[in-house]
Amino acid sequence: MTLVLKRQENMEILAVLVGLFCVLQSNGIEVEALENGCQNFQSHTVMLQEQQSYRSSFHFQPPKNWLNDPNGPMWYKGVYHLFYQYNPYGAFFGDVMIWAHSVSHDLINWIHLNHALCPTEPYDINSCWSGSATTLPGKGPVILYTGIDANHCQVQNMALPKNLSDPLLEEWIKFAQNPIMTPPDGVEGNNFRDPTTAWLSHDGKWSVIIGGWSNNQGMAILYRSEDFVNWTKNQDPLYSTERTGMWECPDFYPVSVNSTDGVDTSVLNEGVKHVMKAGFNSHDYYMIGTYVPEMEKYIPDNDFTGTSMDLRYDHGKFYASKTFFDSVKNRRILWGWVNESDSREDDMEKGWSGLQSIPRHIWLDRSGKQLVQWPIEEISKLHGKKVSLFHKKLDSGSIFEVQGITASQADVEVVFELPELQQAEFLNPTAVDPQLLCTDANASIKGRLGPFGLLTLATKDLTEQTAIFFRIFKGLKGYLVLMCSDPSRSTLRDEGR
Ligand SMILES: *[C@@H]1O[C@H](CO)[C@@H](O)[C@H](O)[C@H]1NC(C)=O
Ligand SMILES: *[C@@H]1O[C@H](CO)[C@@H](O)[C@H](O)[C@H]1NC(C)=O
Ligand SMILES: *[C@@H]1O[C@H](CO)[C@@H](O)[C@H](O)[C@H]1NC(C)=O
Ligand SMILES: *[C@@H]1O[C@H](CO)[C@@H](O)[C@H](O)[C@H]1NC(C)=O
Ligand SMILES: *[C@@H]1O[C@H](CO)[C@@H](O)[C@H](O)[C@H]1NC(C)=O
Repeated sequence: MTLVLKRQENMEILAVLVGLFCVLQSNGIEVEALENGCQNFQSHTVMLQEQQSYRSSFHFQPPKNWLNDPNGPMWYKGVYHLFYQYNPYGAFFGDVMIWAHSVSHDLINWIHLNHALCPTEPYDINSCWSGSATTLPGKGPVILYTGIDANHCQVQNMALPKNLSDPLLEEWIKFAQNPIMTPPDGVEGNNFRDPTTAWLSHDGKWSVIIGGWSNNQGMAILYRSEDFVNWTKNQDPLYSTERTGMWECPDFYPVSVNSTDGVDTSVLNEGVKHVMKAGFNSHDYYMIGTYVPEMEKYIPDNDFTGTSMDLRYDHGKFYASKTFFDSVKNRRILWGWVNESDSREDDMEKGWSGLQSIPRHIWLDRSGKQLVQWPIEEISKLHGKKVSLFHKKLDSGSIFEVQGITASQADVEVVFELPELQQAEFLNPTAVDPQLLCTDANASIKGRLGPFGLLTLATKDLTEQTAIFFRIFKGLKGYLVLMCSDPSRSTLRDEGR
């Protein structure tokens, strides 16, 4: 959804709605199992996707079952790869999680391959949890992942492609000397996980961070290696703080200070700042700052506060995200797990749970103070019939229907023109939590400028609806737009919950 605000002299509120109606996508095919150690996990047919209710058409989904964290996204020999946490046994988070694997030429249409990593060895016998891919110059990609070992302890393992000539990287071989990292002193076996993409540092050595919790601090535990095999823990973490919980799925990468182009994870020069992202309290938070490799320190412009004031990628359902550098289009791409609000019972009934977000291009805002994201341009491949509407006047309380679209599958571009912005209420942006503001004032609470917007996924009688709405405030230096969604009436079954 695109929003452009213009000032108008008269008192009318004009809306221009352009609904882009999109074509249904198939979610790929299922492939027969190969002898790759994962075959035992392939045969648990729960429900065919044609029989599953509420499947999405555009977002990445496996044919069935539970999905969570995106893992090891990368591009290799003309093919985009996405691995992800998957429960082969059903639509719930399982005792045995594996790495499922899908490939694409455009990040939109996906083919599901055989699973890449399944529990087979003492160092991962209780699950193959999240991790990342790193491409070693001249050597190809390597996966680092967290294994849940025979003692239910978290350890870091390595896996390599069996055949580097295969652009699909269908088979992965676990490194014989796994695990390559075990919980260091002071870190308990359940607080040591989710290795990032590694980067080459100033001294030619590799660095990687692992999410951790030690001595009442959330942290990015730093390991270094000359050969990518023998890893030594740095004495101090790259960053640690007493103000957060355990760090899950950290991400660490450079962003260009003056371009929307992305840069490779190992780039280190005057032209970049560094982003440190961590998951805690079920949300993904990030800081922007400076990486000082000589000291192996990360110095954020603003430290995490552990409050809702910390920067977030997304205020909706979006967690365990991971970026990768797309060298084909020189951009950094963000993937995130969209956890839903359904109950376990509802998930089991519908046969699936969880999506990956539409991949987003991510870059540093010109202010240098926050990141900016936009769905990748390839999303236009999903556009079909276009429905346009112009010059609609919205009186207070008025509602009209945009006809000719399938409401559950539309990409909407909308321009609202507003009269007299001066009457907007004052809001100090440094002292508000936008999420709280959205929930405190839902779509039915009137303000001076707003709410106005769209009622999406609505039934004819509007008893079921999801409001996407806006409010305009006067800020310290200009006007502010608050964009909210109100899921409280999005399913009738949720009523009263
Ligand atoms: C490796 O992959 C290439 C390309 O797919 C294929 O032609 C070749 O047969 C594979 N080699 C082996 C040993 O499987
Ligand atoms: C691993 O690396 C450390 C630090 O560079 C070094 O001291 C140690 O000898 C290496 N161990 C092996 C087995 O190569
Ligand atoms: C961006 O900044 C870098 C480093 O300051 C500089 O070398 C480069 O020319 C700049 N690029 C643009 C497009 O301004
Ligand atoms: C996922 O959603 C469920 C249901 O709303 C919730 O109980 C759970 O805490 C969520 N998990 C995360 C990591 O957001
Ligand atoms: C909106 O908020 C008001 C006041 O808190 C509440 O009475 C009302 O039920 C809410 N409406 C919805 C749809 O949640």
